[in-house]
Amino acid sequence: PLVSMKEMLEKGKENGYAVGQFNINNLEYIQGILQAAQEEKSPVILGVSEGAGKYMGGYNVVVAMVKSLMDSYGTTVPVAIHLDHGSSFKSCAEAIHAGFTSVMIDGSHSPIEENIEVTKKVVELAHIHGVSVEAEVGTVGGEEDGVIGGINYADKEECLRLVTEAGVDCLAPALGSVHGPYQGEPNLGFTEMKEILELVNVPLVLHGGTGIPTKDIQKAISLGTAKINVNTENQISQTKAIRETLAQKPDLYDPRKYLGPGTAAIKETVIGKMREFGSSNNA
Ligand code: G3H
Ligand code: ZN
Repeated sequence: PLVSMKEMLEKGKENGYAVGQFNINNLEYIQGILQAAQEEKSPVILGVSEGAGKYMGGYNVVVAMVKSLMDSYGTTVPVAIHLDHGSSFKSCAEAIHAGFTSVMIDGSHSPIEENIEVTKKVVELAHIHGVSVEAEVGTVGGEEDGVIGGINYADKEECLRLVTEAGVDCLAPALGSVHGPYQGEPNLGFTEMKEILELVNVPLVLHGGTGIPTKDIQKAISLGTAKINVNTENQISQTKAIRETLAQKPDLYDPRKYLGPGTAAIKETVIGKMREFGSSNNA
């Protein structure tokens, strides 16, 4: 069923696993990810950035595609449709009214007072609709929908204020992770992660899941991380499979014959992450 993230993340935090957020870009992503989740008996979060939402034709199109695929697949595992890095109240409200079951309001680029204010407004609307809310403190490095930013570690006191004053369901404290591939090994602030978890006591979210070594993933999960976002890794595996298929068969023009291997690659990548995050067999 289509559900919010609240229960799946609380269960993950309690039982020591994380649920993956896998970003979608088109129908094939939804297919590969839903198939993986059902086979693995895993809860799953479909992440939709504002840019990807626009690309697919709007939030309403996204919801319609997800719902009808779940119907035709007979999906029984919990699935959340989540707005990734929502940039304004308006964008979150649009997603909520289109039928998203979860939203992230990313006010992390504004001063904390403004971040709390906009997050609180989103929470008020979202909770009326049974929609869960994620917020961010500090900044994730790397590229995000075309915008490149530096890394800023989250401040503990700001995390506490955002969670208690705005009432979010989960928190993404930026602690050294990066969107896109890492230059060398990531340097995640585990000491801060532990302190923040003790202060806020809501499930934590780790952005920039692509390229984080398994030992760091396990450590983050042991410190209360219950949601891990993965985008780039699926894009790389899909594109690699399509490129190889086209290189092997230069005469190919039927999209099903070259997009199909890309979708299979997404599915395989997602299955690997679900096992690594421990969410398999926890639906
Ligand atoms: O919000 C989405 C993510 O944080 C994805 O990061 O592209 O590095 O896997 P990634
Ligand atoms: Zn992110």
